[in-house]
Amino acid sequence: MATVTHLNHSSGTGPLLQVDGVSLEYRTPQHVVRATHQVSFDVHEADRFVLLGASGCGKSTLLKAIAGFIAPVEGEIRLDGRAIDAPGPDRIVVFQEFDQLPPWKTVLDNVAFPLLASRTLGRAEAVERAKHYIDKVGLTPFASAFPHTLSGGMKQRVAIARALAMQPRVLLMDEPFAALDALTRRKMQEELLALWDEVRFTLLFVTHSIEEALVVGNRIGLLSPHPGRLRAEINSHHFDLLSQGSAEFQQTTQRIHGLLFDDVAYSAPAQAAHAGLRHRQQTGSQRLSA
Ligand SMILES: Nc1ncnc2c1ncn2[C@@H]1O[C@H](COP(=O)(O)OP(=O)(O)O)[C@@H](O)[C@H]1O
Ligand SMILES: [Mg+2]
Repeated sequence: MATVTHLNHSSGTGPLLQVDGVSLEYRTPQHVVRATHQVSFDVHEADRFVLLGASGCGKSTLLKAIAGFIAPVEGEIRLDGRAIDAPGPDRIVVFQEFDQLPPWKTVLDNVAFPLLASRTLGRAEAVERAKHYIDKVGLTPFASAFPHTLSGGMKQRVAIARALAMQPRVLLMDEPFAALDALTRRKMQEELLALWDEVRFTLLFVTHSIEEALVVGNRIGLLSPHPGRLRAEINSHHFDLLSQGSAEFQQTTQRIHGLLFDDVAYSAPAQAAHAGLRHRQQTGSQRLSA
């Protein structure tokens, strides 16, 4: 008589990542800053979940909590059903800053380093895996270059390759393209989507750009300004770079703007969306700045 027990949580149909009623605070001797208030959302395997909100609404703080650097004062964050209480190689963060790569290491060494440091792989396998992901981001000719010789976009590609090489359960990206010029940013969005098409990783992406959220995400969580609360979730899987400029894209952009900023009864999201369309004149910029 054989008994088969499935211990692999990830094989179930439940969410991969659960953010459950999470409040996050910074404490200084003088005062307490509440960064997020009772935020809840689920991220499923192969989702491209985007957290969208104005500067200061707690996006980076939430990402740091999911990465395991900050503990919630309320609520819980679970990965594969297990509470997160420390950083781990199953959650890798790509930041906005171009200086996230040690400048004394080549591209290849930068990408291989976390694999070696975490003892995930031995030297030969780490180099092989690193080369694979360097190729995926189109940087094979630059494998032995040092970061200071690369453009901002290329440095971000290295950071993405380094993160993906760890094959994390979830890839966390904190405004990774925000410091790039508009054309490079668009190209990077395109490449990220192509990479996702090929590798199907799970992505949690933070941005303050409505357009970027609609293009990159399949689902968007809208965070209200300070302290961040989840206002609504938007399904955006049908938008891509080509839909920018279409009537539906514009309407959704306005609707999101309304949901985030109009002073309406948020207990009725459908009405709120409607009010947003009726009352708000769309401004030229679709960035959210506090
Ligand atoms: N180290 C810190 N100490 C105190 N307050 C902080 C710290 N980091 C962020 N905050 C505050 O927490 C809030 C959320 O910040 P953050 O998560 O960086 O927002 P976002 O990434 O959405 O711009 C802001 O009010 C910010 O000023
Ligand atoms: Mg931030």
